[in-house]
Amino acid sequence: MNILILGSGGREHALAWAVMQNPKCDKLIVAPGNAGIAQIADCASIDINDGATVVEFVARNNVDFVIIGPEAPLAAGVGDRLREAGVLVFGPSKAAAELEASKAFTKEICDACDAPTAAYGHFTDAAAAKAYVQANGAPIVVKADGLAAGKGVIIAETVAQAEHAIDDMFSGEFGAAGAEVVIEEFMEGEEASFFILCDGESVLPIGTAQDHKRVGDGDTGPNTGGMGAYSPAPVLTDAIAQRALDEIIRPTMAEMAKRGTPYQGVLYAGLMIKDGAPRLVEYNVRFGDPECQVLMMRLGAQVLDLLQAAAEGRLDEAQVNWADDHALTVVLAANGYPGSYEKGSVIGGLDRFEGDSKNMVFHAGTAMRDEGIVAVGGRVLNVTARGETLSQARERAYSMVDGIDWPEGFCRSDIGWRALT
Ligand code: AMP
Ligand code: GLY
Repeated sequence: MNILILGSGGREHALAWAVMQNPKCDKLIVAPGNAGIAQIADCASIDINDGATVVEFVARNNVDFVIIGPEAPLAAGVGDRLREAGVLVFGPSKAAAELEASKAFTKEICDACDAPTAAYGHFTDAAAAKAYVQANGAPIVVKADGLAAGKGVIIAETVAQAEHAIDDMFSGEFGAAGAEVVIEEFMEGEEASFFILCDGESVLPIGTAQDHKRVGDGDTGPNTGGMGAYSPAPVLTDAIAQRALDEIIRPTMAEMAKRGTPYQGVLYAGLMIKDGAPRLVEYNVRFGDPECQVLMMRLGAQVLDLLQAAAEGRLDEAQVNWADDHALTVVLAANGYPGSYEKGSVIGGLDRFEGDSKNMVFHAGTAMRDEGIVAVGGRVLNVTARGETLSQARERAYSMVDGIDWPEGFCRSDIGWRALT
């Protein structure tokens, strides 16, 4: 089978690493890829958000199966163009990707299927939004409706902060994403991520993880795309996962199918857990990054069979072989991230790691230049290890971090703290 993966992050490196271990994979191309991916697959620099370009590339390269990594091509309808051309695709349609692209859409789906989530209001003007905030008080959460690269959510501690956030959003700070605003009840509890494969009808949970969104140790500083993750997430017990499936995931899937927009792909449910009960924070229509890296380490080669079963509508026959160990990943980011940072610094020491099923350095923002592997993004490497216990996985990951020579980068030193204390 000839396979094309779309994307260029640590998520896609981990997907590529797992997929190519499956004997069914004859040829693997990743577009556009990065320096780490180029060591294991062909990379092609094409515009992955343009459906016609991807369809043409697939035909020219005899690709049998396309796996879409990031949300942008999904929201741009690249999956639809491929399916129209008769290509097997893993990833939702543009209509189903609304579950990530519009927060108001997701809240309305939750209402329609009675899935537990925060109470909310949806507004297109500042005066009505402010009246809602005044009526409900703080803390309260103000969200730009559309895709804002994880930056469109403000947790307001006071009514004044919420009003300020509302003014910012309606004055265009988040571009088109902020033209509509969702205001939500602040939910207390512990957050965890639940990953479920869906084929339009059946669902198959494939793992749990916890992310570290803040840039600094002890969950301080600004939000990032994620500074580290581990799997499984101990807070998401089997019983809570079952409740999430019964009360949130399956009702959402049934509602999407009923509306004529069945969901196929991976559903990443952000859950808030309190007193043994899960509530939905948000859906993403893709794997999390860096959560994917820890999931792929634990799933390995079977990932290709599972993604193919989802794409072909055969999930009811599929089974997951669970590893009963733990995986943890530490993100190395460029100094300054998530603010501005320099590009082009050389990363040394990477040739010390050959990589195996227990220890892998996945690349995110890297490129190959004459001087060696250089950093070209904010999040640059994902140092990932497995262990029989979470603390063993963490020790292994940090000892690999110590072997990397990159003074222009940094990482959090406390990945896993919540589960380990
Ligand atoms: P989102 O982009 O919707 O995932 O929001 C980003 C982060 O904000 C989440 O991961 C939560 O940590 C937090 N958050 C979002 N909505 C709420 C809420 N209603 N209550 C508490 N925290 C929230
Ligand atoms: N790590 C969070 C995300 O992928 O959205």
